[in-house]
Amino acid sequence: MKQQEAKERIEKLIEELNRYNYNYYQLSKSEVSDFEFDSLMLELQNLEKQFPEYAKADSPTQRVGGEILKSFKTIKHRYPMLSLGNTYSREDLFEFDQRIRKQLGDNFEYVCELKFDGLAIGLNYVNGVLIQAVTRGDGMQGDDVTANVKTIHSIPLKLDFKEIPADFEIRGEIVMTLSGFQKLNEQRVKEGKAPFANPRNAASGSLKMLDAKKVAGRPLDCYLYYLLGDNLPFDSHFENMEEARRWGFKVSKSMKKAKNIEAVFDYIDYWDKERNELDFDIDGIVIKVNSYSQQINLGLTAKSPRWAIAYKFKAAQVTTKLLSIEYQVGRTGAVTPVANLEPIHLAGTTVKRASLHNADIIKSLDLHYNDYVKVEKGGEIIPKIVGVDLERRDNSQNPISFIDKCPECGTSLVRREGEAAHYCPNEYHCPPQIKGKIEHFVGRKMMDINIGEATISALFERGLISNVADLYELNAEDLMSLEGFQRKSVDNLLKSIEASKNVPFEKVLFSLGIRFVGETVARKLAVHFETIDKLRTATFMELVMVDDIGERIAESLIDYFNDKSNQKIIDRLISYGLQFEIVKSNERFPNLLQGKSFVVSGKFVKSRDEIKKLISRYGGKNLSSISSKTDYLLAGDAMGPSKLKKAEALKIKIISEEELINMINI
Ligand code: IVH
Repeated sequence: MKQQEAKERIEKLIEELNRYNYNYYQLSKSEVSDFEFDSLMLELQNLEKQFPEYAKADSPTQRVGGEILKSFKTIKHRYPMLSLGNTYSREDLFEFDQRIRKQLGDNFEYVCELKFDGLAIGLNYVNGVLIQAVTRGDGMQGDDVTANVKTIHSIPLKLDFKEIPADFEIRGEIVMTLSGFQKLNEQRVKEGKAPFANPRNAASGSLKMLDAKKVAGRPLDCYLYYLLGDNLPFDSHFENMEEARRWGFKVSKSMKKAKNIEAVFDYIDYWDKERNELDFDIDGIVIKVNSYSQQINLGLTAKSPRWAIAYKFKAAQVTTKLLSIEYQVGRTGAVTPVANLEPIHLAGTTVKRASLHNADIIKSLDLHYNDYVKVEKGGEIIPKIVGVDLERRDNSQNPISFIDKCPECGTSLVRREGEAAHYCPNEYHCPPQIKGKIEHFVGRKMMDINIGEATISALFERGLISNVADLYELNAEDLMSLEGFQRKSVDNLLKSIEASKNVPFEKVLFSLGIRFVGETVARKLAVHFETIDKLRTATFMELVMVDDIGERIAESLIDYFNDKSNQKIIDRLISYGLQFEIVKSNERFPNLLQGKSFVVSGKFVKSRDEIKKLISRYGGKNLSSISSKTDYLLAGDAMGPSKLKKAEALKIKIISEEELINMINI
């Protein structure tokens, strides 16, 4: 294709795809099929690769993410990002209204808006193009998260409007949709990752990722509520926001003018009920004086404007029937009571269960069977029972007494002094504890064995594993007998078990799941004692002499190593060749790449992270972009042509994955 032709086609595709995108994400109208959309995107991506000189800031290809950043740049806000005064009380709102009336008389109007519960963002547009997106930070300066923000489809990359200010900032809130949040958390739990506590944390965690490609997969949205700049079209907030909606921004239709504080209260009452129907969280409403000149007249305090206030909702609460209490036994043997509830709608989700944490909580609530309980959803995913509706209790109900036998194995529960939880002490024969110990052992930060919860359960149920040492005696035949397992998956699992034999001592120690021995404690113990033999024969005194090892940990270690079945497991693990001695890093990984710097780009057989880890282990340095200081470009499949060109221009040695492996001969 000729240059001119390519340029025109790129421009046309950008224009067309941006229009489809706007119609789809803002107006919920789809003009083309997904297939057509994807093919046009692919065409554009290819053209931009061939003719990078015509790639544009507003191209929809920007929405899928590009290079991985090392950190975000700090950017000073042109206008400081103020916060809002807030209150939970209606009296305070009356007072707010009185103050305003005293200053302005009666001739003014309020704008009522939802208070979106996400994270604030400032979007800067120059000549209609989104050039920078900055987080709130400390209000004076924030992080440049432009690449991440571009992945949010409802944010226009370019405004196709003639009469817009040449240079303006629009502020709003990035939120995660509730439906998306639920799916994301389900996915995370499946992958063994910790779920996000609430949609706000999920939105903020997502926006702070350095890889925009990953952000693109997160269900984020952005509502705009504040326009700043020199030549704004109107002299008032409401009219400007309506105008911004015409330019293509997502401005909530819930925004409404109110003539007086009574109308504000009507708005509050309406949304206090209706907010449960929204697909995003709000935590209150915001009231603003509409006219800019009146805003200026009212002025600011040190932290927030006097012309606006936030009214926050109390946590959403509903009453429902307590059906039963279930007791769950965790990996450590801790028993957690969980309430099963008559399903009820609460703040966007259906609630069926609530955690009761421990016996003390049940007691302090004076919970009875068949009670009607008040359930609240605060910041956490799991709702809380905050009280009992005593009026609905009759004499048929009995107080709930905590169980005294383990529901899984029947052993009498114990409650240690000073601890809130009940424990099942049958550590080695109580099924959830056995499975839990194995699940912990194989975790990514532990032995990193590629085996899921379901497979562990299946192996346990067939009697093929009943402790972590049994994993090392599994063979292909055992595994082939499992449902859904084929040669390849069996091979992969066996390989990953084999590979775990190289996991360093401190991680092996952490993997054993000794009570109170977390990652940091394990590392300290490994560094101090150096070998399992020194550690397992250490006395209480020797243990508490170690930095940060207190009596509680020391006791737990002594108990652990005194136990016959633990001794057997450790002896077996030693015999299988696991690392039970600390290896000083320079012994195992000679500095073969000392002083050499690498840029890693493209796809490889190993993951990019693994390759980078190898480079740094052997003394090399990883750089993020090519410069004259780079020694090697490690080129993988599907690497961007611009990097290759740059490397060639700077005469940087280009090597393959295989060549790297040869350099460190492993
Ligand atoms: S206006 C000077 N409007 O609440 C006024 N803020 O505590 C600037 N927020 O940092 C803010 N919804 O993150 C405004 N409709 C809304 C809002 C809103 C949520 C957040 C925003 C701000 C915080 C103030």
